[in-house]
Amino acid sequence: MKKKLGIVVVVSMVLLFGVGICFAEMPSADPAAIWTYISKTSPYHQWQNWPDHQGIQKGHSPHGMLHQVFVNQAGLSSAKPPAAYGTMIVKDNFNKKKELKAITAMVKVKGYNPAAGDWFWVKYSPTGKVDKAGKPQGCIGCHAARERNDFILLHEFK
Ligand code: HEC
Repeated sequence: MKKKLGIVVVVSMVLLFGVGICFAEMPSADPAAIWTYISKTSPYHQWQNWPDHQGIQKGHSPHGMLHQVFVNQAGLSSAKPPAAYGTMIVKDNFNKKKELKAITAMVKVKGYNPAAGDWFWVKYSPTGKVDKAGKPQGCIGCHAARERNDFILLHEFK
């Protein structure tokens, strides 16, 4: 009897933990929380690349010479612009020797900045030190060239 109860407790804990992960709240507009999320809670290297932008590709200034873009499930399942709230796009920026130089990200946070697609912008060093974060005019101004594609340059919504 005791053994059965033990099994029930273990199974319930596993289920609760699983449900907890599924519904774990996405980080809000907070660069430290976003770093914890993409480096520990849901490591972005385990996400996918956009189907139309796979693997390491050549990049342009001001980003790295080479890059790779990772996108979470909310982004991947967004069929047309705007991307769904909770979308996270994380880009590894490498120099020409493929050394990681910076990590840039866009996170779609409801109500954060409706004037510019509700994107939270952030640039980290390879170890997670915040370089720029929030609504930097630089990031927004340049990406606004593709406002109709929800400020996203490396993926075409159909
Ligand atoms: C002068 C223009 C310019 C500025 C400023 C700029 N970007 Fe970009 N960004 C690009 C281009 C061009 C790409 C396409 C990839 C490449 O060429 O490296 C890109 C791609 C990205 C991507 C991949 C998602 C996508 O759009 O496809 C992210 C994430 C990103 N930039 C974040 C940022 C952040 C954060 C900042 C500010 C700290 C910033 N960018 C500033 C031009 C810019």
